[in-house]
Amino acid sequence: MEGLFGKYRVLLAPMAGVSDIAFRFLCREAGADMAFTEMVSAKGLSFANEKTRHLLVLADGERQVAVQLFGHEPAVMASQAAWIEQEMGEGLAYLDINMGCPARKIVSKGDGSALMKEPELAASIVSAVKGAVAHPVTVKFRRGWAEGDETAPVFARLMEEAGADAVTVHGRYAEQLYRGSADWGVIGRVREAVAVPVVGNGDIRCGADAVAMAAQTGCDAVMIARGAEGNPWLFSQVQAALAGAPEPAPPAVGERIAMARRHAELLTHREGRNIVRMRKHAMWYMAGLPGAAAARGRINYCTTLADFNQVFDDLLAIAQEHS
Ligand SMILES: Cc1cc2nc3c(=O)[nH]c(=O)nc-3n(C[C@H](O)[C@H](O)[C@H](O)COP(=O)(O)O)c2cc1C
Repeated sequence: MEGLFGKYRVLLAPMAGVSDIAFRFLCREAGADMAFTEMVSAKGLSFANEKTRHLLVLADGERQVAVQLFGHEPAVMASQAAWIEQEMGEGLAYLDINMGCPARKIVSKGDGSALMKEPELAASIVSAVKGAVAHPVTVKFRRGWAEGDETAPVFARLMEEAGADAVTVHGRYAEQLYRGSADWGVIGRVREAVAVPVVGNGDIRCGADAVAMAAQTGCDAVMIARGAEGNPWLFSQVQAALAGAPEPAPPAVGERIAMARRHAELLTHREGRNIVRMRKHAMWYMAGLPGAAAARGRINYCTTLADFNQVFDDLLAIAQEHS
């Protein structure tokens, strides 16, 4: 593990609607070396810098964050990257460009993974952003667009030639969405294709997965998304496993509920739409606990911190009865 990621080996992925200051805080505390913001629309920023400023706020204790931008217009991407750099100063670790999102509302506008079908345009975005900022610029993409057509190694080389300082590869095709399993072989093939650091991403659910991905692919860092949902402890497990130490035991029920409470509390401090976001996190924290099925219906009506805490109190009481 060297270069840009020398000290950032275990990364929290950009996750729209999830990787806000509350979730980042808990994942950093659990051991994530670096975290990404939710993807930020360059076009949206260009219309409303002031309104979107809150997306760039750092979590408590977070010295730096990596900001992910999406868009397909080189000039807009470059000008907004420059604005972010100026706005955030030392708080910005690096800028990442989203070329992997497969959501219809994103690709239909030519953004996200649609850029894998337009490698020349993708390269011109990277060189425009690189020319506009002093910070490192990284690119996140998938195995390819169409299922069976693995373009990532060639695409990675193009991004490197355009100036990318590192690349992240998620081992699924865009057309695959989240179906099937991630192919880690492509991460190794990208590793061989470029000289810049390569971040491996896809299906890390435990410390052993991270160790296996690193061993099989030679990647310089690993990135985790869904495995951390309701489970920030995954970062401490991955850190321990990568260091060759025994993985900490999974959290007990009481710890899971305590973490959910802290998460809800942190979300009350977030600007904009806030605590309603806790509904999905609460479902993730309590997955598999006794009483979770009944609590699910109630969670959909929670609108305040007190509402969530009531559900958590009841879940804890049920868990104590069971133990
Ligand atoms: C809810 C959710 C939101 C996501 N949002 C983004 C995003 O904003 N930008 C991005 O590059 N990838 C996004 N992703 C993809 C993840 O960063 C990651 O590449 C993918 O989930 C595979 O990693 P995993 O198997 O660890 O989940 C998102 C994934 C999920 C599940």
